[in-house]
Amino acid sequence: MDRNEAKARIEELRAVLWENSRKYYVDNAPTMSDYDYDHLMRELEDLENEFPEFYSPDSPTQRVGSDLEDGPAAQQGFVQREHRYPMLSLANTYSRTEIEEFAARASKLLEGREFSYCCELKFDGTSICLTYKAGKLVRALTRGDGRVGDDVTENVLRIANIPHVLKGDYPDEFEIRGEILMPYSSFDHLNQQRIEGEDQPFANPRNAASGSLKLLDPDEVARRGLYCTLYHIPAQSLADDTLSSTHSGLLEKAASWGLPVSEYNKICHGIGEILEYIDYWDTERKKLPYATDGIVIKINELEYQRELGYTAKSPRWAVAYKFKAEQALAKVLGIDYQVGRTGAVTPVANLSPVLLSGTVVRRATLNNADQMAILDIRIGDMVYVEKGGEIIPKITGVDLSQRPEDSLPVEFPLECPDCHTPLQRGEGEAKWFCPNTDGCPMQIKGRLLHFMSRKAMNIIAGDSTVDQLYNLGLAHTPADLYDLKASQLMTLEGWKEKSAKRFIDSLQESVKVPFERVLFALGIRYVGEQTAKEVARHFGDIDAIAAASEEDLAAVKDVGDVIARSIFEYMADGRHAIEIQRLRARGLKFAVDGESRSVLSDALSGQTIVVSGNFSVSRETIKDLIARHGGRNSGSVSTKTSFLLAGSKPGPEKVAKCRDLGIRIVSEDEFWTMLPQGSRISNKDESEPTLF
Ligand code: IVH
Repeated sequence: MDRNEAKARIEELRAVLWENSRKYYVDNAPTMSDYDYDHLMRELEDLENEFPEFYSPDSPTQRVGSDLEDGPAAQQGFVQREHRYPMLSLANTYSRTEIEEFAARASKLLEGREFSYCCELKFDGTSICLTYKAGKLVRALTRGDGRVGDDVTENVLRIANIPHVLKGDYPDEFEIRGEILMPYSSFDHLNQQRIEGEDQPFANPRNAASGSLKLLDPDEVARRGLYCTLYHIPAQSLADDTLSSTHSGLLEKAASWGLPVSEYNKICHGIGEILEYIDYWDTERKKLPYATDGIVIKINELEYQRELGYTAKSPRWAVAYKFKAEQALAKVLGIDYQVGRTGAVTPVANLSPVLLSGTVVRRATLNNADQMAILDIRIGDMVYVEKGGEIIPKITGVDLSQRPEDSLPVEFPLECPDCHTPLQRGEGEAKWFCPNTDGCPMQIKGRLLHFMSRKAMNIIAGDSTVDQLYNLGLAHTPADLYDLKASQLMTLEGWKEKSAKRFIDSLQESVKVPFERVLFALGIRYVGEQTAKEVARHFGDIDAIAAASEEDLAAVKDVGDVIARSIFEYMADGRHAIEIQRLRARGLKFAVDGESRSVLSDALSGQTIVVSGNFSVSRETIKDLIARHGGRNSGSVSTKTSFLLAGSKPGPEKVAKCRDLGIRIVSEDEFWTMLPQGSRISNKDESEPTLF
């Protein structure tokens, strides 16, 4: 790989990893398996080592993923507080050889001195940092971004196995860290309730634990059946360093004060015992009532831990060995083809029920036609099923030795299973699509469901309501929903006064949803929650988005050419303009509120600005400032451009075009003088402080 290729790949990997880290830690709805995520992270680490010139303190290899929600503090439910000692992550591997290498390195660094390892389970939940003062639990912080966390003390006080008051001979003040888990039994119960209430179930116990910990109602937290296990006392947090000379000794003390510490920790001497522990738990963990995803190996002597120290992201004295996702064998009973709201057709296999990571699996996705063909999957086959990041597990292989003799290859359908329109597949697309956007019932219902979903307009209704409204011809597009009347709903089968009122109230409530969520709710292809947020903040209102060129759209943070084209095409379609007009007439928000845009001034109002080159702060920051001072960002120079803001090394074509058109070129220094006094920010203000 040459330098340019490496640079491009590094940028791509950083973007993909941050996006997924957000989905994992903030949304609690990952779309990538841990295994795939860890592999991409490793690829990035390797590239950054090979090309150190592309080092960045902002790389996901240098910073822990953050569970903090962005936006103004007022919108967040929790106070954020600084950690006294950064909360770090762990280096991880799926390779036993790398565990051997870790042990060999440790022996070498400690030069023949005797030491031991503390081997522990790696609990798959969400981390927590507890502070006890005078024996009382006074604070509980989530990991946050490692530097500051959300104060969830009120919620943690409602977790049954966390003591409010300690017993015995505890130190006056100390911190202890661990994991909040949701046992499988609580998880199954919660998801059952959510399905009945037509809420989206959680993909796995980890997401459920972390979502539950961030609830704003402590009573509801208490009902969620969470569980805590503690595994680390930062030795710096203890005034008295004679308490114990080992990590396991400190944990034993913690247990004697009444704190929940795992009973499965084991002191190991040498790599042989470590590997035995790994092998034992690889199978035994399946019997545990909660999820674990590996084991953690820690050097046990605190003195040696201090000597080995930390990298920016993790301790050098510990490593996690992660188990590959659990697999199970199940029989393929049939294959359904689901048509999503975008028209994409996804094959889904119906399976004989099988227990996988603590839950019963009956369906698994096959992704697309190519994957089906590669696996040559057949009805009656025994297949390997694995849980990735999504709710529906995936099929990863076929056990050919068990294939029935008379089985036939499965043909991917040529037409839409719902509306029978011939399917199409664009060049370079992995999926087949039903092109009947306006007439295909599955697509129409899918769009309505998306519009109403919790992260979009949060309108309380589920599949059956949408089916009914669609079948009766009462709702085709989201705007139709707002024409419904309680009196009309009450005449329909299954509706009562109360349910009709609840539905209408929830529709009325939804008009308060901020613009960024309305934009997401519209269901523009590739525009997820985060992209909608960026686009909304960048342009401010729907008219500016509709007026934007593809280049203007591509100038938004995280928006590439494909997304820009998709938004542009959506806005250019007259039917969408009418739909937006109808929704607007019903009072939905099509402009950002003052607060989330946080306008700083109108210093650049009426100016269309093209940004090019490198600046003393990031280009994103410059663009954000332009928008917040009333200016408009544009990706390309045209006669409409007010000026080109050129940092060092601006694009030569842009500069040439400005010269041709007689457009002014403004330097960074001059730019700062255009903003109100005191607006200049320096690199220091925008970068995150590095840990350690
Ligand atoms: S020790 C500085 N021990 O795994 C060392 N972490 O992937 C801090 N985890 O952020 C971590 N079980 O949330 C430690 N026995 C265990 C663990 C554990 C689960 C989590 C923890 C950490 C993450 C890293």
